[in-house]
Amino acid sequence: MLRPPFPAAEPLDVPPAVGPERPAAAPGPADRVVRQLRRLPRRLAARRRLAIRDRRAGQAPVVERSEEKNRDLTRRLYDGPAGAVLALASAVSLHEPLIGQLLKAPTDGRGIARRSPRFDVSRFRDVLDVGSGAGQILGHLLREASPDARLVAFDLSKQMLRRSRRRMEPRAARHRREPGYVAGDMLRMPFADGAFDCVTAGWVLEHLPDPAPGLAEMARVLRPGGRLLLLCTADNVTGQWNSRTWKCRTYNPRELAAACAAAGLPWVRRHHLSPVHKALKFGGIIVECERLGDAASADKPR
Ligand SMILES: C[S@@+](CC[C@H](N)C(=O)[O-])C[C@H]1O[C@@H](n2cnc3c(N)ncnc32)[C@H](O)[C@@H]1O
Repeated sequence: MLRPPFPAAEPLDVPPAVGPERPAAAPGPADRVVRQLRRLPRRLAARRRLAIRDRRAGQAPVVERSEEKNRDLTRRLYDGPAGAVLALASAVSLHEPLIGQLLKAPTDGRGIARRSPRFDVSRFRDVLDVGSGAGQILGHLLREASPDARLVAFDLSKQMLRRSRRRMEPRAARHRREPGYVAGDMLRMPFADGAFDCVTAGWVLEHLPDPAPGLAEMARVLRPGGRLLLLCTADNVTGQWNSRTWKCRTYNPRELAAACAAAGLPWVRRHHLSPVHKALKFGGIIVECERLGDAASADKPR
């Protein structure tokens, strides 16, 4: 038998075309969303497995990214279109109005105590809002803080600060106060030790690969006895979803409590956005921490 002059062609792994050939349609945005949704359960399960493994090993699940790269990615995210819709997202998810309930004075206009405990901001004189974003917390501080209190909004993204200032202008005018807007990294804040008696930090600590340096820096700018109101994404199903959208990590409550205690910021009270959030364990981890006077970590030289 004669051998062919060239090797026999490999069979192609493609089913024969049926009917006239048509160019395949490029996947549209809807296809991409469907594909992401299909992959979601597998991804969530993988993340959960990793978190369980880390917890069993007694470690905080740390996002593996250098500090600098992480900062650049986060800044770009919030400077861009995601940051532009942040205020809308907080309004739709009801986070912004519910935080307002949490920051309301503990008694109503007639002096009657409200049912659930609140974070009373009227007792502070110098308030710093770290990771201020679109001003979701700042807007409430403008209304609830003592009239002579100094308010400072701090954020990594200058663009977010500009958006926030624009959004806050009518409220600031109504309450006749002008907050300061300062751009920078929460790991190196341009404030003196003990410059504030209150720090609020909403949904920002999850943007750091490791919480310890961020907590130490907030402890540094707080006076002994000062309070930190910390709001963080939890390691549950809704938290995992948020961490995907906002490219951040999540926290296990026990792990976060240990990190706060190590920074000299032990938890003194746990809060919830509403009784429904409390029952369903939604709405993240919301805690009030006290800055200890004698915490070695809080007094470390920079
Ligand atoms: C999800 S938004 C939170 C907005 C608001 N605090 C709230 O409670 O809804 C997170 C904000 O933290 C800021 N941020 C992230 N990493 C930061 C860092 N290292 N230093 C300062 N701000 C940071 C982002 O630019 C963004 O505006």
